[in-house]
Amino acid sequence: MDLVEQIQALKQEKNAIVLVHNYQRQEIYEVADLLGDSLELAKAATRTKADTIVFCGVDFMAESAKILNPEKKVLLPVISAKCPMAAMASSRNLKQKKKEHPDAAVVSYINTSAEVKAESTICCTSANAETVVRSLDQEVIFVPDSNLGAWVEQQTGKKMILWNGYCRTHAIISGKKLKKAKALHPQAKVVAHPECTRTVLELADKVCGTGGMITYARDSSADEFIIATEDGMVNRLKREVPDKRFYCVAGSCIGMKINSLERVLTALEKDQFEITLDEQTRVKAKEALDRMLEIS
Ligand code: 13P
Ligand code: SF4
Repeated sequence: MDLVEQIQALKQEKNAIVLVHNYQRQEIYEVADLLGDSLELAKAATRTKADTIVFCGVDFMAESAKILNPEKKVLLPVISAKCPMAAMASSRNLKQKKKEHPDAAVVSYINTSAEVKAESTICCTSANAETVVRSLDQEVIFVPDSNLGAWVEQQTGKKMILWNGYCRTHAIISGKKLKKAKALHPQAKVVAHPECTRTVLELADKVCGTGGMITYARDSSADEFIIATEDGMVNRLKREVPDKRFYCVAGSCIGMKINSLERVLTALEKDQFEITLDEQTRVKAKEALDRMLEIS
């Protein structure tokens, strides 16, 4: 049996599912029960009847699945698969910020730890950040992505208290690099993730999360697209929209790419690495995730 067959057999034996983020290596797509963006994966985690969820993504995604499913075993195949941006916000610093703005609501991007979610009013993803912010009347502290926050401010006209976090994979995409790609592919539409800088977003024809990119490419009359997000997304787009061409201007996210089929197999064989959370933190974090899911 090859690796994919061994994983499929173990999934059946253990009543497990494998949830896979769009940025994962292509080989991992082959064992996915669901392949999607952060919001689609969080929703899938609330619907599954499986006993075990193997999360092929980064730490905060597996944690979110556990927050929503305390009775299930949630496994992250590589313990060091972390999102550096999520690590830019701590619950201690957020508590301090809340003291400075006692009447503000806290919107935390899903790319945060369970402890930060537990200090938040509501969560959001790139797919629903605008809707979430529009749903709030009061002042908003937006944590941790300053680029996504600034983009939401622009869309909603609502000034927010922004954290100073950012995603390196997206922040290093320069306007210069993007203009070069546009010169090489003048017919291509530019699609950018809202974690990119303002300079890049201003050059984009479409700004959306990874799930929205698939819909846009499929529905657009254009045949070519320059994709300003983590490089794995181009593989997902080629798979979903095979008759169109996609060019990437970003690099890899190490936390996303550290996973492999071998690690998924070992995770299933040894039940590792299991996500565990402090129950009080989990319950509070779930309230913020549930509020987001209610309006998404
Ligand atoms: P999406 O929710 O758009 O898939 O984004 C997740 C992420 O980590 C982007 O860097
Ligand atoms: Fe985090 Fe950026 Fe990687 Fe997304 S691409 S998981 S935001 S480091």
